[in-house]
Amino acid sequence: MTIDDLMNMAPVIPVLVLGDELDPAALAETLVAAGLPVIEVTLRTPWALDALHTMAGVTGAIVGAGTVRDPKMLDEAIDAGAKFIVAPGLTEPLGRAAIASGVPFLPGIATAGDIMRGLDMGLTRFKFFPAEASGGRPALKALSGPFPELRFCPTGGIRLENAPDWLALEAVSCVGGTWIAGPEDRDLAAIGARARAATEVG
Ligand code: 3PG
Repeated sequence: MTIDDLMNMAPVIPVLVLGDELDPAALAETLVAAGLPVIEVTLRTPWALDALHTMAGVTGAIVGAGTVRDPKMLDEAIDAGAKFIVAPGLTEPLGRAAIASGVPFLPGIATAGDIMRGLDMGLTRFKFFPAEASGGRPALKALSGPFPELRFCPTGGIRLENAPDWLALEAVSCVGGTWIAGPEDRDLAAIGARARAATEVG
């Protein structure tokens, strides 16, 4: 599966900052059943790697790791079963290691310089992060001018209400966000309802 396959599978990638209250398998099953099979588990909590491993075993779920900041975290994520890797930014060591691993890789960019470093490594798909704080849609439209062939997954400040505006941009394949299931959320029915609504934004 390529990074494009992943980005085109659903309009929204739920970005999970997991608490320790929800059963990770039940959460993944809920998201898959609602129509959001591509799931990013951020490595921001002590139980994230174990949860990723559990979720990766759920039928139909394509589970990746987010907040991957260096090659050590990359290795841990791949060992836990991550099918793709998302990073908040792009460094040479992480970029080289991710490309060498062969796992689909979506590093964060926010400037033309970031993009050009990515292009130098052969990367053409990026997370635009933090999307709203980095200038929102006008910024991404402007960045797409010199780089029309690139495609992005904006993340950071995106919710159900503004997701359609982002998805209307040609350069945007999908968006990511934490609004579907946050660390305090315990209600799987409510998570499922938000996930179903998210499938209809694009
Ligand atoms: C991320 O890591 O992609 C962001 O924390 C998501 O931002 P959000 O919480 O505004 O959706």
